[in-house]
Amino acid sequence: MKKIILFGPPGAGKGTFSAQIRDVLPEIIHISTGDILRENLKGETPLGLKAKKYMDKGELVPDDVVIDMIKDRLKKKDVKKHGFVLDGFPRTYTQAEALNNITKIDYVVLLKVDEDIIIKRILGRYSCPDCGEIYNKYFMKPKIEGVCDECGASIKFEQRSDDNEETLRNRLNVYKENANPILEFYRKKGKVKEVNYENKLTEQEVKKVLEI
Ligand code: AP5
Repeated sequence: MKKIILFGPPGAGKGTFSAQIRDVLPEIIHISTGDILRENLKGETPLGLKAKKYMDKGELVPDDVVIDMIKDRLKKKDVKKHGFVLDGFPRTYTQAEALNNITKIDYVVLLKVDEDIIIKRILGRYSCPDCGEIYNKYFMKPKIEGVCDECGASIKFEQRSDDNEETLRNRLNVYKENANPILEFYRKKGKVKEVNYENKLTEQEVKKVLEI
């Protein structure tokens, strides 16, 4: 059973790499704080309404809100049985410390990508409304235009509301302000693995990173 953190700037490919991990570890539970927050936003729950003002500006949702959300998710049976990939958490030193008090992780995979590529990735991103498969109009189009490779649903280019240039700049700055102390926290524990993710990895390469 693996407990993995995926770490990297917006657009590094955390969601995309999570899908690659699920191809080789099908039972592992993917936990994306961004996805959970967006679902709450869509459902107009109290949590979603609270998070909206931060997400729209590319700011971080307050630690106490996100930490409680993750604590609840990590308590569930499926996670205890199959392990997890955390995508988008921790994002502050306080979150890293809180996670360390909840459970011990195996390693942090740091996805490294040049900033110019990141900007194009974010501005070109779209996803399947049915299964969530991620595409990119510059780098990763579906095999048949307008049809999801995974589930066959019809898809069109539609951006996430925080995927505009202004919000992205802020998201990148917020990442730069917070990343080093978190990485230092895990480097001291010998947990960080760096992966160049400018291109998708092969299945063999993914297995090597995951040590399986
Ligand atoms: P979140 O949803 O986590 O956004 P993010 O970290 O900015 O990351 P993204 O989802 O934008 O990118 P990604 O790295 O997953 O890249 P992807 O695989 O999609 O968070 C959104 C907001 O929620 C935050 O701003 C904050 O407000 C709030 N929030 C979330 N977590 C929080 C927390 N812990 N604390 C406080 N607030 C929190 O790939 C991007 C594009 O590139 C895609 O189009 C893809 O097709 C393409 N691509 C990816 N990899 C490759 C590759 N190897 N080759 C070619 N193309 C690729």
